[in-house]
Amino acid sequence: MTIQDIALIHEWHPVLLSSALTDKPEAVVVLGEKVAVFRTTQGVHAFKDLCIHRGVPLSLGKVSGDELVCAYHGWSYNGCGTCTKIPSLPRGQAIPSKAKAFVYACVEAHGLIWVCLGTPAGPLPKVSAYVPEGFKEVFMGPYTLQAAGPRIIENFLDVSHLMFVHEGLLGDSDFAEINDYHVLEKDGVLRSEEIIVYQPDADGTGRGVNSRYVYEVFGPLCVALTKRDDVSDHIFRLFLMVLPVTEQTSIAYMLKQRNYAYDEPDEVFIQFQERLIEQDRMMVENQKPELLPLDLQAELHLKCDRLSIAYRNRLRELGVTFGTA
Ligand code: FES
Ligand code: CO
Repeated sequence: MTIQDIALIHEWHPVLLSSALTDKPEAVVVLGEKVAVFRTTQGVHAFKDLCIHRGVPLSLGKVSGDELVCAYHGWSYNGCGTCTKIPSLPRGQAIPSKAKAFVYACVEAHGLIWVCLGTPAGPLPKVSAYVPEGFKEVFMGPYTLQAAGPRIIENFLDVSHLMFVHEGLLGDSDFAEINDYHVLEKDGVLRSEEIIVYQPDADGTGRGVNSRYVYEVFGPLCVALTKRDDVSDHIFRLFLMVLPVTEQTSIAYMLKQRNYAYDEPDEVFIQFQERLIEQDRMMVENQKPELLPLDLQAELHLKCDRLSIAYRNRLRELGVTFGTA
């Protein structure tokens, strides 16, 4: 393994929406590593995307009889990566013991397929503990951004951009002051106190409200916000999970949860989110330096940036180097 980032190697990374993995293998890239992901009746599997025979990507092959069959000479690998069949071998000859695929940890949870290149800290991504019962969920992505994963996450945690980048939707530049708030840590999760933002059109339905935002940081590239307003019992949660493809290319997945507007088509929420992402794209794809600086002497911070500071400190403590400077 050539990746130096020890922290991100052991994290679960979202690689595909569950709905995007059907009966064919898919090629994905995690931390610069090519990975073949496929589905059998036993579940989901991830292999290094390279057949040990002649180096062809296994993702070019097909899934047949719960095994991944290489496109080049038909070697067949079971879900554990063991080669069970080499069609060109004369009958009775043993399959070489080295004929194996390199297997990565892979799970399907909460509408996504997740891959860990190292040894995962837990059986499932941490986000799993935070899915409330009875909420309507919408999965969104993939959104490819030419930006470092940590820059994208920090943009999501940055409350004072809402009034400018998303003016008219998530904020109003005449109401740009940010109340003082602190960031607390519990069970390894960073959580902001409430931040109040006046929103002219908080969810695409044209309703102006004072929203109370709470942000949570579950992992280096997995965060959420929860919004409540003062006029209803509506709760809106938005998770952002970023796949670090390379240091400066990332794929964002989002999960939106709400306890209202059950009958509204998902498409309305997806289109609204896509509009917001295009607004954010202009910022995150143009920031310099491209990699998120973890030295707090770099860039200039205000009190309202406490959450960004806490996030940068967390990345530094974890030793995240991929996408940071
Ligand atoms: Fe895969 Fe030959 S390269 S079977
Ligand atoms: Co934004």
